[in-house]
Amino acid sequence: MTAIDQGFMSPRTGLLDRVLNLTRGSAEKRADRAIPDSVPLHLDVPALPGFRQDAPTERPADEPRPLSISAMTAPIKPISLRRDSIYAAFNTAMPVTDRHGLAGRNSELEKLVEAIVVQRKHAVIFGTRGSGKTSLARVFGDLADEAGCVALYASANGEADFDSLFRPFLTELPMSSTGQERARKMMSEPLDVSRLSALLVEEVRERSILIIDEYDRVQSDTAKQEVATLLKLLTDIHSPVQVVLVGIASDIDGLIAAHPSLRRHLASQRVTAIPKPELERLLLACAANARLSIDEDALDMLASAAMGSPYHARLFGMSSALVTEVGLRDRMTLGDVEEGLVSALHDWSDMSTATHALFQRILWEAGSSRRMIALAAVVASQMSAISYERLVKLGHEVLGGGSINEAQARDAMTRLAPALVATPNGELWMFEDTLAPQFLLLMAKQPVPAAPPVQTPAEEMRALLKGVDGL
Ligand SMILES: Nc1ncnc2c1ncn2[C@@H]1O[C@H](COP(=O)(O)OP(=O)(O)OP(=O)(O)O)[C@@H](O)[C@H]1O
Ligand SMILES: [Mg+2]
Repeated sequence: MTAIDQGFMSPRTGLLDRVLNLTRGSAEKRADRAIPDSVPLHLDVPALPGFRQDAPTERPADEPRPLSISAMTAPIKPISLRRDSIYAAFNTAMPVTDRHGLAGRNSELEKLVEAIVVQRKHAVIFGTRGSGKTSLARVFGDLADEAGCVALYASANGEADFDSLFRPFLTELPMSSTGQERARKMMSEPLDVSRLSALLVEEVRERSILIIDEYDRVQSDTAKQEVATLLKLLTDIHSPVQVVLVGIASDIDGLIAAHPSLRRHLASQRVTAIPKPELERLLLACAANARLSIDEDALDMLASAAMGSPYHARLFGMSSALVTEVGLRDRMTLGDVEEGLVSALHDWSDMSTATHALFQRILWEAGSSRRMIALAAVVASQMSAISYERLVKLGHEVLGGGSINEAQARDAMTRLAPALVATPNGELWMFEDTLAPQFLLLMAKQPVPAAPPVQTPAEEMRALLKGVDGL
């Protein structure tokens, strides 16, 4: 797949490495493309070479101790390299680009290949922040390359309009020299939907797939309308070009205002929670790359706390591994994970002060609704979005009890409201910070403090303003 550097982009995860893999499909490669159900995870972040756990070599007793400065500082070296290898192995910033490092997404990959490559549909890949959308899209792009398509990848930004979304692809698309000439002329003015669709249909010579990541950042409604119109036109005229839009959303409407007739030609791929055994495999593979092992109960606690999110699994794994490293051990214990989770929560609270303060306050004030607030965190992590109805239904199923769930669900929704945003159809609510539910659950599991949480400076100021203009 070819990743395009649009120059104007500032992607959230710094994904702008250029050409990844330009293999083209042969019949054998196509046959090769089957996605096995369970293969060992080979993460593309190897351990740094300097850290070894080889048995120490015996030194004869009568041999003098080396007194040189470099020998005296020698023990420090492996420790810092070991930290480096932990950061590299559990890296949360790099999307997966190699299919062998992608945990728990085989059925999603198969569905995408079937819909886009075989059935020639456009597609929307959506999910919460850090759920693995980019990783899935990029590995899909490589599979599409191997199936004989040209997969091109780019990221959108907030100011993007129709022109800036598609212009970068034009120079990369496989076109005849007349087509390239036509594209060059077209690029002297802003791109227009119908002329672009005509160019793509008439001049593109190979099956091509345009992947636009971070599409949720596009603000302009006009741009979104034009993209939907382009997809419809390309569908109607059997274009060799398919478009894949990738972004944060709880449903397809959150990303694209699709014409009803376009919907039939649009595959939607939700990026959901990864099953716990797959997350455990991922954690073990990361730990092995950092030359660590993990106790069974520690592994269980880590994977449970991540609630299906590969981002949180890596983050919590990294914090816990650093605790193991500080203890100069190579086996991660339950105690390390408990400490690691507290440290991860602390780091998150530094970055998300307002949300953390809100969670702290509502958990302290919630009383018996506390368990419903915790359930809201679990539901958000598993289903992207929550609602009063969902909480009541799942409250009955998960927590038992009767009508108490209704009062508690209403209370939980009201208390959480400042941290939620409505989905486009207005029926459901997502956490504005979609990484927050895992941290909310960690907070809900902590003992209730005896005293109310200390107010943040902003809360103190708000208290001082009480009474002004209805505050
Ligand atoms: N299936 C997976 N197997 C292993 N690691 C994964 C998987 N999916 C995602 N990750 C890891 O989780 C982190 C987040 O992944 P990625 O960037 O793909 O998520 P995203 O949904 O695109 O995030 P964002 O919403 O910020 O764009 C990365 O460190 C990535 O390596
Ligand atoms: Mg992404």
